[in-house]
Amino acid sequence: MALKHVQKTYDALGASDPLWAVLSFPEARNNRWDPDVFFARGRKEIDDVMAGLSRRGVAFNHDRALDFGCGVGRLSQALASHFARVDGVDISASMIEAARGYNRCGEACRYHVNTEPDLGLFDDAVFDFIYSNITLQHIPPEASETYIGEFVRLLRPSGVALFQVPDGPAIRPGSLAAAWYRFRSGPLRRGWKRMRGKPTVEIHWINARRVRTLLERAGGELLDSWQEGSVRRRRVSRFYLVRQPGGS
Ligand SMILES: C[S@@+](CC[C@H](N)C(=O)[O-])C[C@H]1O[C@@H](n2cnc3c(N)ncnc32)[C@H](O)[C@@H]1O
Repeated sequence: MALKHVQKTYDALGASDPLWAVLSFPEARNNRWDPDVFFARGRKEIDDVMAGLSRRGVAFNHDRALDFGCGVGRLSQALASHFARVDGVDISASMIEAARGYNRCGEACRYHVNTEPDLGLFDDAVFDFIYSNITLQHIPPEASETYIGEFVRLLRPSGVALFQVPDGPAIRPGSLAAAWYRFRSGPLRRGWKRMRGKPTVEIHWINARRVRTLLERAGGELLDSWQEGSVRRRRVSRFYLVRQPGGS
């Protein structure tokens, strides 16, 4: 149920203004992104990520990568310069249609629509690298928590996941604060946005300690975690670098 609204919002955005829905710069609204500039930003992001991991001494195979919440494939296509095969997954059929239209990598980039609250479309241990940026922040935490566990399940031994999710205050499940969070980030925010004629994109966070617990439970080894960029007051954007133990 929680994902229905996310799917509906991104299906509408993917059909009307897909590049702006991914990088919402005011001057690029109404299909004013230059696709070359837009995709170049994706290449720069992934080249920087790969260089950063190499500097940290984090090594992994470059066979198959997953881009979770791929949108129009801005990062999937960039990953295809570093991996033999990339799978991009998105909840929105219109985004995936756009991704296929923009694909310049042929069979090296495969795109999948997944509306399930898990990643059961993939078998265990199939990816060497998983990347997800500016995606989990739009998904209600109860679903994101499952996806985070799924990242670990999908990694091959010694595979690595790098994902971003905002950090914010801890919220105890079943508490009044949890009920308020659900109302405020769901119906209240959507209603407020609708009234102002804005897309009903949700913004969520998960407390960093909770993410660590989830990764530990899933059997992932947290290599590092760092703050990068800001989301809102009291919420910061945080990256988590996780390895699947095992392998040589
Ligand atoms: C802001 S865009 C980012 C796209 C891409 N990560 C990038 O940086 O170019 C967020 C994307 O996440 C997708 N998304 C939201 N919820 C999702 C879910 N539960 N599973 C997969 N994709 C999801 C949206 O449809 C949208 O395409």
